[in-house]
Amino acid sequence: MSLKIAGLSLVLTCSISYAVDTKPTQDVSKVEITEPGGKPEMIGYHLEDFGPFAETWKMVTVRYREDSGEMRMTYANPIAAKAMAEKRDKYDYPDGSIFAKIGIKTERDPLFASSIVPSGAKRFQFMIRDKKKYADTDGWGYVLFDSQGLTFPGDVHANIQACHACHKVAESRDYVFSEQADFNSQKNMFKEIKERREKLQQGMKDSFQLREKKNLPKLVRKYVKKSNDLRFYEGPIREATFSGTVDEIVPMLVIESIRANKPALFLAKNEKEFSLVSAIKSDQKCADSMKPYYVNLYQTMQVPAYRGSQEISYRVVQKSFCHSGR
Ligand code: HEC
Repeated sequence: MSLKIAGLSLVLTCSISYAVDTKPTQDVSKVEITEPGGKPEMIGYHLEDFGPFAETWKMVTVRYREDSGEMRMTYANPIAAKAMAEKRDKYDYPDGSIFAKIGIKTERDPLFASSIVPSGAKRFQFMIRDKKKYADTDGWGYVLFDSQGLTFPGDVHANIQACHACHKVAESRDYVFSEQADFNSQKNMFKEIKERREKLQQGMKDSFQLREKKNLPKLVRKYVKKSNDLRFYEGPIREATFSGTVDEIVPMLVIESIRANKPALFLAKNEKEFSLVSAIKSDQKCADSMKPYYVNLYQTMQVPAYRGSQEISYRVVQKSFCHSGR
């Protein structure tokens, strides 16, 4: 039982960085989970099967995720690393390629508060290439363990579909987001940064469409107050989601809402889970070149393993923050 609860609270803490006022409509600790997780094996893999990869595989990149306050390190096994180095323009990972990612929670260093330090491994994620075996998900098998090497709660198949739905965003890189970071030199750094910013802006515009309020499901419509239309996320992530997805997408919605000066909505295909963000200018103080905003966030999400039957509804959250946008 303690494992079940640990799994659930883990999923829910993703939202805490945004939550000022959280109003779940039900007591989550009482929800019975049909697939509690806590198993040492997922689709035939154990954490130990990957060996001491953080020491022996190539470190591809590091990333920091605003949505979860997590530091992430990505590693490639020799087959994947070779393919990544050889085909920069057209990635094509052969069978046997494996990517690993460690997500580590962070906290402030008590000796120097603006320095953020790791506070313990949180989860291990893997993508294993086998074009035949995992044909359903474009040739990638997905595996996820917590820091004890145990599975999370929730239906395994549904979770894998959700993994891949989001990784479809990176289809042009053969479904792998990470690219080799240049840790050793500054060669072309400035040019790449500029290109990346331009691509980001274009990519964001392409992922969202204008959608009129009257064409939205009633569930969402009542939260769109001042605007007759909004920016609607239309991309592969909608196809399959898990409870974390509606949280993970929030920073993207915030940026789009600021850019377009309209609310931005992520609505899962099931039309039950959504995140709706309105970023509004505020008059709080920000550092030079940053502008202050209030972010209103409304959302519903499904409790894992109870997909379609139970939900935590209408979290209404207000957060003020500074952004370099508009
Ligand atoms: C909502 C989007 C989303 C979902 C869902 C998702 N990922 Fe990812 N994944 C990413 C992003 C973005 C990165 C790039 C690194 C980062 O930001 O953490 C990534 C990186 C990875 C990497 C490193 C290789 C790469 O693509 O860069 C692995 C391995 C990985 N994810 C496995 C998984 C597994 C396993 C699941 C399901 C349990 C999953 N992912 C679900 C967005 C997602």
